[in-house]
Amino acid sequence: MDMQKKLYLETFGCQMNVSDSEKIVGLMQGIGYVETKDSAQADLILLNTCSIRAKAEQKVYGHLGKFKSLKESRPGLIIGVGGCVAQQEGEKLLKRAPFVNLVFGTHNLHQLQDMVRGAEEGRRSSATDFIDDEARFDLFLPHGREGSVSRFVTVMQGCDNFCAYCIVPHVRGREISRSAAKIVDEVRQLTASGVTEVTLLGQNVNSYAAKNPGEPDFADLLRLVAEIDGVKRLRFTTSHPKDMSQRLIDCFAEIPKLAPHIHLPAQSGSDRVLKAMNRGYTAGQYLAKVSALKKACPEIQFTGDMIVGFPGETEADFQATLDLMQEVTYADLFSFIYSARPGTAAADLPDATDPAEKQARLERLQALQKKVTLERNQSLVGTVQEVLVEGPSSSGECLFGRTGGNRATLLDGDEALAGELVKVKVVEGLQTLLKAEPL
Ligand code: 5AD
Ligand code: SF4
Repeated sequence: MDMQKKLYLETFGCQMNVSDSEKIVGLMQGIGYVETKDSAQADLILLNTCSIRAKAEQKVYGHLGKFKSLKESRPGLIIGVGGCVAQQEGEKLLKRAPFVNLVFGTHNLHQLQDMVRGAEEGRRSSATDFIDDEARFDLFLPHGREGSVSRFVTVMQGCDNFCAYCIVPHVRGREISRSAAKIVDEVRQLTASGVTEVTLLGQNVNSYAAKNPGEPDFADLLRLVAEIDGVKRLRFTTSHPKDMSQRLIDCFAEIPKLAPHIHLPAQSGSDRVLKAMNRGYTAGQYLAKVSALKKACPEIQFTGDMIVGFPGETEADFQATLDLMQEVTYADLFSFIYSARPGTAAADLPDATDPAEKQARLERLQALQKKVTLERNQSLVGTVQEVLVEGPSSSGECLFGRTGGNRATLLDGDEALAGELVKVKVVEGLQTLLKAEPL
């Protein structure tokens, strides 16, 4: 009989949560749990939650409802909630959901082993204190999910920007950067285990080490990581346009391993809305950074985030957003209807726009982006690209990889190419992917 304890972990939200989940798996392995994809088999269910929009939060409660009935049939099952909803709700979640055993916030992963052991002995607990120093990062290793050729490495966490709509500074705390030496060490370890692509991760990587005198800035950190032999390709996310320095822009011209892609969320193309959002730049300033990036690296691909229906957004404001999109020509754009988050500055702003009008704007924006994405993918036909092969495609019939510009690509070849950079010629540009032939 299989006596190993089983963990079922579900992750919602952004890459920071995906990265935290990798660490959670590692921590739980340390106390005897192996991961299962089947919640019905689990002895421990953990939800790593997101509260960026109301919908994401509702999803968490929906899932908890499902696990409640599982627990009724198996009283020994341990259920834990972590991440941003846990950070927000804390003890309230324990009261509201009596079947939940433990609640752990975004700074409390290092307490998780003890909390789960306590739950095994019947104790319920909640930990949501912020730890405002760099020691927090050391407590988070090791990663538990192996095998991938591309990994995230956290360089900073938290955010000091307080955009008017955003819950992140409230649930992730203030910016804290990790020391460059520790980042370089982690990347070395990853490359020794076969990782060839590294994405440096943080809520706002451009302000990396802004509060750590004596540490390299983000541009220099990129150079340090690029010097590591096993790193074949380097990426980073997310960038705040206001902190995108010329030194960082120059990296795209000067560091060959730096992939020609940047995720640069604009959020709106209207100066009035950008001001109300507290974004710290105008549409003109954003577009100037885009031009400088295109100049430094003509093949660079942009992705971004856009919010429609921010309180007070008029048709003219919205049109300015469409205009900005047309000027940038994003390869892909993530777009959302504004969702009021309790405790944020915008939550109390009067908002007279009809929800149906917001939905219509979102659909117009997405229709425009769909057209631009297809055109961009088609314009790559005939070009030579470098694809980092991640492994077999989902159908198993060919290989899957990504171009430097982060376009999903299918190509023929041997599975042994996983982790390698392969030169290809693009033969077809579809809505969501490219097809290519190795040269
Ligand atoms: N409503 C809608 N979208 C939001 N985002 C952040 N907060 C909100 C909100 N309250 C979007 C932003 C951000 C992305 C991760 O989520 O576009 O860049
Ligand atoms: Fe949220 Fe703004 Fe910080 Fe991004 S920069 S995490 S949108 S507050």
